[in-house]
Amino acid sequence: VKPENNCIVIFGASGDLTHRKLIPAFYHLYANGLLSEKFAILGVSRTEYSDQAFRDKLKAALEASEKVDEATLDAFCQHLHYQALNTSDVEDYAKLKHRLDDLGQQNDTQGNTTFYLATPPSLYSVIPECLAAHGLNDESQGWKRLIVEKPFGYDLASAEVLDEKLHQHFKEHQIYRIDHYLGKETVQNLLVFRFANGMFEPLWNRNFIDYVEITAAEFLGVEERGGYYDGAGAVRDMFQNHLLQVLSMVAMEPPAAINADSMRDEVVKVMNSFQPLSESDLHNNLVLGQYTASDVRGDHLPGYREEQGVADDSRTETYVGLKMFIDNWRWSGVPFYVRTGKRLPTRVTEVVIHFKKTPHPMFSANAPKNKLIIRIQPDEGILMRFGLKKPGAGFESKEVSMDFHYESLEETNMLTAYERLLLDSMKGDATLFARSDAVTACWKYVQPILEYKENPEHLYGYAAGTWGPKEADTLLANDQREWRFPCKNLTDTDY
Ligand code: BG6
Repeated sequence: VKPENNCIVIFGASGDLTHRKLIPAFYHLYANGLLSEKFAILGVSRTEYSDQAFRDKLKAALEASEKVDEATLDAFCQHLHYQALNTSDVEDYAKLKHRLDDLGQQNDTQGNTTFYLATPPSLYSVIPECLAAHGLNDESQGWKRLIVEKPFGYDLASAEVLDEKLHQHFKEHQIYRIDHYLGKETVQNLLVFRFANGMFEPLWNRNFIDYVEITAAEFLGVEERGGYYDGAGAVRDMFQNHLLQVLSMVAMEPPAAINADSMRDEVVKVMNSFQPLSESDLHNNLVLGQYTASDVRGDHLPGYREEQGVADDSRTETYVGLKMFIDNWRWSGVPFYVRTGKRLPTRVTEVVIHFKKTPHPMFSANAPKNKLIIRIQPDEGILMRFGLKKPGAGFESKEVSMDFHYESLEETNMLTAYERLLLDSMKGDATLFARSDAVTACWKYVQPILEYKENPEHLYGYAAGTWGPKEADTLLANDQREWRFPCKNLTDTDY
C-alpha cells in the first residue's frame, strides 16, 4: 500500500543529513515506485535558494554519490521545492504556511504533512512551537507528523524537558523519533527469528542461555564530527539509543501483535527491567576507553585527542563496555556484555547468544561451545556454532558452523534504514520508532554512567585499530568467559 498524498517539510535542508541520507532515501523510494501518487518535498533553511537552485544542488549531490537513472532523477527533482525561513522567528512561518497551502492544493494532499527536524537539537523545541502558532500541528485537516532525530536530550533531565516541550504542541501519536538501528532489516529480523521459530523460542531464556554479547564496532574515528562527539561520547552517541534498542529486541517478551502499541509496550517493559547500575557496577562492570594514535595496515591513525574539534585534554570516551543484567523472570542472572567503540579493528555489529553446556561432559575436556551469532552488519546473516564428532578413533568433539547470509536471498533489494523509516512514517506506522517512555527509560538507565563519566576513576587508552582497552577483556575473563572477536565476514571467525 502506498502512502496517501502528502507534503514533507525538511528543516535543515542545506545540512549534511539531508544530502547524505534523506534525499537519497526519498529518491530510492521514488525510483522503486513506493511513494504516493502526488507528493512535494519542501526544503527549509536560512539560506536563500530558488527552487531550481535547490534542485540543482541536490541533483549534483546525488549524481556524485551514486549511479542514478537520469530520467528518473529529473522527474524526482520536480517534486523538490525550497523555502528560505528564519526558523527561530515565529512570524516567518506565515511564509511556510502559505507555501504549504499552495503545494497541498497542487498535490491534492488534503493537508497531510510531515515535518522532519534535520536541524541542530537546539531547534527541536523552537520549531514545534512556531508550527503550532500557525496551526500547523492541527489535524482537523489531514495528519501532521513530526520526525525528530537523536539526540533526544543530553541526559535524563533535558530529555524530560524536551519531551514536555514537544508534547505541548504535538501529541505522542504525531511524534516519530528516529533510531535508525530500528530501521535495519537485520534488527527487525531479530523478532522474526525469535518469535517465528519453534526451534529457538523455547531456548531463549535463563535456563539455556549462559550469556549474551552485543557488539557495535566501528573502524572509523570521529571524522569531521569531533565538535559534536566531544560533548557526547560513546555512551550518548551509540549506547543509550542504538545498543539498548537492539538489546531490547533480543530480550523483550513476545508482543501480542506487531503493531506500534503492542511492540513498544514490550520494549519499554524490558527497558524498565534493566537492573539499575550501582556504585559497584560503575567501578567493576563498566569500562570506558579512548583511542590513541597507531599505525594500522600501513596507515597512521591519529589519536582521539588529535582529531579536529576535540579538546587536547579531552576525557570523552570513544569506547564503552558494560556488563548488565535484566531483572525479570526470563533473564534473571544472565549477563549481557555490551560494547561499542570507534577505531576498533573493523565495522561490525552483532549479537552472540552463548548457550549453556550439557550437564555431563562425556566426550572430551573441551566441550564444544554452542553459540548463535546474529550478524546485523556487514555480511548480514546468522552463524551457528556447535560440536560434532571429530572423525577417526575415539570420541572427541570438534566445533563446526552452519551459516546463512542475506546476500544469498533472491530478494536482495532491501530498503535501507532511512528508506524503511521514512516510508513507515508516511504510512503512519510508528512500530519502528522510539516511544517517549522508552527514551526516558534508557536515559534513566544510563544516567549513573553519565554522572560517573564526568570524572571517571579510569579512562583507559587503547591503540586505534584494536579491540578496546584490555580491561574490557578482563570484564569477561573474570567470569571465565571471552568476547568473540568478529571479522568483516561472518564466517571468518574465531581467530
Ligand atoms: C550514529 C552515530 O547514530 O550511528 C555515529 O551518531 C555512528 O557516531 C552511527 O557512526 C553508526 O551507524 P551505522 O548505521 O553506520 O552503524
